[in-house]
Amino acid sequence: MNKIIILAALSILGITACKTTVRQAPDNAEKNLNKRVDSVLVLMTLEEKIGQLNQFSGDGELTGPVALRPDLLKSIRDGKVGSMLNINGAEYTRKIQKIAVEQSRMKIPLIFGYDVIHGYKTIFPIPLGESASWDIEGVEKAARVAATEAAAAGQHWTFAPMVDIARDPRWGRVMEGSGEDPYLGSRLAEARVRGFQGTDLSDKTTILACAKHYAGYGNAQAGRDYYTTDISENSLREIYLPPFKAAAEAGVATFMSAFNDLNGIPATGNKYLIHDILKTEWAYKGMVVSDWGSISEMIIHGIAGNNYEAGDLAFNAGVDMDMEGSVYLTELPNLLKNSKITTAQIDESVRRVLRLKFMLGLFDDPYRYCNTDYEKKTLLKPEFLNAARDAARKSFVLLKNDKQVLPLNPAVKSVALIGPAADAANDMIGNWSGRGEGKDVITLKKELETRLGAGKVIYARGAGFNDGEKSGFAAALAAARRADVIIAAFGEAGMMSGESMSRADIGIPGVQEELILELAKLGKPMVLVLFNGRPLILTKVNATVPAILDAWIPGTMAGPALCDVLFGDYNPSGKLPITFPYALGQIPIFYDHKNSGRPGSQDQKYKSRYLDIPNDPLYPFGYGLSYTQFAYNNLNLNASIFTGDKPLEIRVDVKNTGLVAGTETVQLYIRDLVGSVTRPVKELKGFKKLILKAGEVQTISFTVTKEDLSFYNRNNIWGAEPGKFTVFVGTNSQNTIEAGFELK
Ligand code: BGC
Repeated sequence: MNKIIILAALSILGITACKTTVRQAPDNAEKNLNKRVDSVLVLMTLEEKIGQLNQFSGDGELTGPVALRPDLLKSIRDGKVGSMLNINGAEYTRKIQKIAVEQSRMKIPLIFGYDVIHGYKTIFPIPLGESASWDIEGVEKAARVAATEAAAAGQHWTFAPMVDIARDPRWGRVMEGSGEDPYLGSRLAEARVRGFQGTDLSDKTTILACAKHYAGYGNAQAGRDYYTTDISENSLREIYLPPFKAAAEAGVATFMSAFNDLNGIPATGNKYLIHDILKTEWAYKGMVVSDWGSISEMIIHGIAGNNYEAGDLAFNAGVDMDMEGSVYLTELPNLLKNSKITTAQIDESVRRVLRLKFMLGLFDDPYRYCNTDYEKKTLLKPEFLNAARDAARKSFVLLKNDKQVLPLNPAVKSVALIGPAADAANDMIGNWSGRGEGKDVITLKKELETRLGAGKVIYARGAGFNDGEKSGFAAALAAARRADVIIAAFGEAGMMSGESMSRADIGIPGVQEELILELAKLGKPMVLVLFNGRPLILTKVNATVPAILDAWIPGTMAGPALCDVLFGDYNPSGKLPITFPYALGQIPIFYDHKNSGRPGSQDQKYKSRYLDIPNDPLYPFGYGLSYTQFAYNNLNLNASIFTGDKPLEIRVDVKNTGLVAGTETVQLYIRDLVGSVTRPVKELKGFKKLILKAGEVQTISFTVTKEDLSFYNRNNIWGAEPGKFTVFVGTNSQNTIEAGFELK
């Protein structure tokens, strides 16, 4: 096939950039799109079709135009590659794209994919931290900034958002998600999809998103990454699938199948999950990519004897594209020959890939993302850095603030800045930080010295993150003694969370806790600024340190964002998206647990309790303090009997009873008291953020529909059941006021 034939075919059918998203394509646009896709498909050989279902990774140094393995370039030339990941930069992607569109027979452009998880060059807080903002618009904006930078650097596709619900903080990948709650997780999944994709995939500021890892991956037993999951149908539907469904409904362009085996069948070969639920029940029209090598890993799982069987399982389950596995390339032809799969199935998967290429506008201009000048101008724009700073300060959670240690007086004479995180630029951007670089980070030390003057900051590292070395303790304690205030910057190193970064002991690592406790003994005003990719066990430090601010892994603008909060320029407003356990032995611990037949407390015998620790966590889901206080009053419902004909309205007065303005996240929880299956003690059903001036009162209202009261019943059918419900409204999942109603 020569270029002329292709161009003729494309122009006859009027192929242009198509301004649609996966879900939103209106009928006509959808028809046109399908026509265009088919016009290409009809010209392709079987080998070329299978090539579109293959994704390879770039190798080695990824920051610039290094030579790829020759066989890789040959594969592109031979039409055996539909997409590449880990090829970065406008210049490099142009070079590789050129091979696809100028040297392959069909000249079909490649899609470049990359893990743009919390920023591309401007790094935002890790997703878990960002989720603590409960700020839907902010989260969407952050994703748009990331998409804009990534697109400018030649990328078309991010492997984000990760929407796995995670309830075991030992699992290192909790940092990539939205925490433990399906409702919050769903709203944030939608926001991130909107942020990455916008309404027009051919726009310069948008890229394809990917809901991953489908499904159940976050349930890894014992919190060990890649490990088995065993999830009941009810929990799958109620807890793990909702954020995926929300992402699909928001039009997410792609899904990624997970590594884990789920109830005995690896997710990547799980027909029930992909074919039955995703593609049939949810009528999902996007494309499903495997995780890295997850097709052939089914051999190691022990469910396939060889690549042929693994390919059979994955393809028949509905995985369209093989990420860096080469299984489809080698096995789909044999599977077709042996009638294990059909040409129609192959065509259907290829269509799903080609659709995306059209939507991105790549057939119109395959180099549209490959402009080095635009790339240079776009990365690290001041407005992006400001957005990252705002996202970071909104993500911080004030866990404790005894005697109002915070905010610090900007006129403070001397500050001891102690700890391994105080000046650790790389640790501020953490894992999955795209092309972010430590050199662009403003650390806490740097910003503090700028604000106060270097002479007022007495810095001592004190200890490493995890090296067991105590030789720095003496200098740290001496520095602390000389200062009026101690800022202790401790926690996890940036790479202690993320993929394959499970930890069995989730205390503050190494000897850090020992030093923190020594510092606290000095009795000075002290704030612990905690850096962490997951909830940590803070029970000991909580008992002695007067103020604790959770900063997660805050990103490029760590220092300025932290100083904004420490000195009161920004009143902290973050709320925990995941429970902080009191002790390791409570894990998994989450707020929407079941009641059991013997709910109880430590001092009661024959109750659901521990002998040695309380049942309650240290900090519950939804928890976070402010420099002001909020009071909740006058909770009322527009009806005590709810028939579902018109929405139930729930109103509450929220008052700022303190002396400064502040932002509160008002949380609505509901409990169904009697169901055909046992129901959680409460479930988040809504939240609203509001800014209140000192002394101000606002009435907040929520509307509840029958849908909000629905769940999967005893027969796994979705619906609401009549009966009594309790409504809880408050500042976190534990501190609420209550009312009741009956559904008739
Ligand atoms: C991870 C995915 C990621 C992929 C590509 C895998 O190891 O599980 O989340 O998108 O690699 O980098």
